[in-house]
Amino acid sequence: MTKRGSGRTTAALVLASVLVDEGASVVIIDADANQPLAQWAADAQLPETLTVIGDVDEENILETIAEQAAHKQFVIVELEGSPNLATSYAMSLSNLIFIPIQASHLDASEAAKTLKLVDRQRKTLRGQLHCMVFWPRANAAIQTSSAKDIQNQFAEALSSERRSGPCSFSARP
Ligand SMILES: Nc1ncnc2c1ncn2[C@@H]1O[C@H](COP(=O)(O)OP(=O)(O)O)[C@@H](O)[C@H]1O
Ligand SMILES: [Mg+2]
Repeated sequence: MTKRGSGRTTAALVLASVLVDEGASVVIIDADANQPLAQWAADAQLPETLTVIGDVDEENILETIAEQAAHKQFVIVELEGSPNLATSYAMSLSNLIFIPIQASHLDASEAAKTLKLVDRQRKTLRGQLHCMVFWPRANAAIQTSSAKDIQNQFAEALSSERRSGPCSFSARP
């Protein structure tokens, strides 16, 4: 996941809500030091099929994901804005990486760092690691010149033959 304010927490919660509505059992692991979802969950009345686990960092993230994956259908991990060791560990146990960005060059360059990490992880993983870059906060009606530029650069980079696995870029919000 990428820079603060790009919509990570909101996207994690929306994804979890949709899956719970469809009848799935879901856990959100909050590995963001600010604990946005763990703090929210402390005061929220959650459905039985949704749990939120806080206080997760590089020390315990591998065990926590493995334990939860044994009895939950979906494990969603919210990570720090900039990739760190916990990000690498979480990626090593993931099937799909979501990278929300804002339509700014600063955000796009953070996303590019995360994509490089995805590529490095793919070299050490046996399974497929899919990823998706998207911009949840962009205005669908107005496309800025920065957004167009970022869109073109990502589309080109993600279709490059040098990439070692599937990655998609949602061109529209
Ligand atoms: N899809 C969206 N549409 C409109 N506003 C959004 C959307 N996603 C997030 N926001 C708003 O953007 C701000 C940052 O979102 P947040 O999910 O907290 O980002 P992050 O977790 O990356 O820091 C919040 O005020 C949130 O309400
Ligand atoms: Mg957040």
